Amino acid sequence: MTIQTISKGPFEGQKPGTSGLRKKTRVFMEPGYLECFVQATFNAIGGAAGKSFVIGGDGRYFNREAIQIMLKMAAANGAARVIVGQGGLLSTPAVSNLIRQRQTDGGFVLSASHNPGGIDADFGVKYNVSNGGPAPEAITQAMFDQTQTIDSYRILETADIDLSTCGTSSVDDMQIEIVDPVTDYAALMAKLFDFDKIRALFAGGFTMRFDAMHAVTGPYATSILEGVLGAPAGTVINAVPSEDFGGGHPDPNPVWAKELMDEMMSDTAPDFGAASDGDGDRNMIVGRGVYVTPSDSLAVLAANAQLAPGYARGLAGVARSMPTSAASDKVAERLGLACFETPTGWKFFGNLLDAGKVTLCGEESAGTGSDHVREKDGLWAVLLWLNILAERGQSVADILTDHWATYGRNYYSRHDYEAVPTEAANALMQGVRDRLGALAGTTIAGLEVTGADEFSYHDPVDGSVSHNQGLRLWFAGEGRAVLRLSGTGTEGATLRVYLEQYAPPEADHGLTPDVALRAVRDAVVEITGMQAHLGRIEPDVKT
Ligand code: G1P
Ligand code: ZN
Repeated sequence: MTIQTISKGPFEGQKPGTSGLRKKTRVFMEPGYLECFVQATFNAIGGAAGKSFVIGGDGRYFNREAIQIMLKMAAANGAARVIVGQGGLLSTPAVSNLIRQRQTDGGFVLSASHNPGGIDADFGVKYNVSNGGPAPEAITQAMFDQTQTIDSYRILETADIDLSTCGTSSVDDMQIEIVDPVTDYAALMAKLFDFDKIRALFAGGFTMRFDAMHAVTGPYATSILEGVLGAPAGTVINAVPSEDFGGGHPDPNPVWAKELMDEMMSDTAPDFGAASDGDGDRNMIVGRGVYVTPSDSLAVLAANAQLAPGYARGLAGVARSMPTSAASDKVAERLGLACFETPTGWKFFGNLLDAGKVTLCGEESAGTGSDHVREKDGLWAVLLWLNILAERGQSVADILTDHWATYGRNYYSRHDYEAVPTEAANALMQGVRDRLGALAGTTIAGLEVTGADEFSYHDPVDGSVSHNQGLRLWFAGEGRAVLRLSGTGTEGATLRVYLEQYAPPEADHGLTPDVALRAVRDAVVEITGMQAHLGRIEPDVKT
């Protein structure tokens, strides 16, 4: 077998500080593009020689071909061992778990998360480090620097490697282990949760629908829910991963998981509904007739986690991303738990988890997780909910009602304005930024502004500071709005407006979010001059 060194010049790769490279699939398929990214990553970590990696993806178009390229490159770069999910499949949390369990140097996740898949859709690659979490800024910076100076990549000329059968083989001097994608992950879940209790719940007639959205959690959910826990066949729908996610958008929210939402709101709804995204790190939770916002889900999990064996000792603390509602803060306050507010993006939780400062963390964008891995974990959240439901013997609706009566309700909604011209989005943000100092104390659209700032995060573990993490506006009566531009959109700019209104325990918790949030929304529309900048005030997506 011969190692080829192919000349290649600088290219546009992953931006420093972002977790992963996400591009159109056709870009990844351009000769040498994926190869340069992989080589830049190997170079950035001081070479792959003697190292071990995990590789797996969500099964989207180009997954298998990409893995073949990466395996041949790992071998040519002298890697000692690569663990690959059978058929090239591994969910993001399963990669994180394998890195940790097998103590590899790192791992690659092939996914564009909840973005559609296909030759005309999106693909992505993310490098995770030895704690199982996304590469920290120092490494993404080094990766970026490599993309500016790279002149060649190394690849082994050899036949494709069979990914379909579990077992160990070798290519050149590199060992390749094909593993069942579910086994190790399922073992971890069995340690954290009371599977006997959940089994008894299903045996007692409890009904559930899990929408795998034609994505990677299909095999995981089928094996764990229907296999190990005895839920009836058919509990998991859209369970077979497909290269284009059945032509859908594998994002578990009420808009994209409409089929599940409709069933959960119908007369024949099962007791519990859930969904996960393309790579299995996001989750949506729905009860019969009631949608649980991700912010509320985090708060309910924080308040009840001790009911699951893995968390019986209690929580060290809870962290949420800044735009996530303060519902989990209310729980932390009452239970005396440490509470952290981080910028958007899972990577900011890593230091807090590694330092043992928090046990649970979550984002309003349907990400929830704990210190069991270093990624958010969709199926984990579903299993924790099931454990809590089994212990409490109440419906999701009753648990929410109780929760709000104890802690109050944080009405919440995110409004997304997509494909906005970049200049218009920047002008809108700058307009608010320029007025931040003058807003407090003014009354806008009948609502008093009590404070305004631009969020900066001071990492309590490594002392680093991240600026420009979103504009925050507070209103009288514990209302809040956050404005930020998406870092993951692929077309123009996406403006995200996060609206929140607290209603204390004794207040009315039965309003629709639109009604409860109207005053804050009206104030935001006026403060931003939204109509003038965007030519509209209605968002494309409300979650
Ligand atoms: C979005 C979410 C954010 C999440 C990220 C990656 O980022 O808002 O919470 O961590 O996707 O899944 P954004 O597009 O808002 O920058
Ligand atoms: Zn995802």
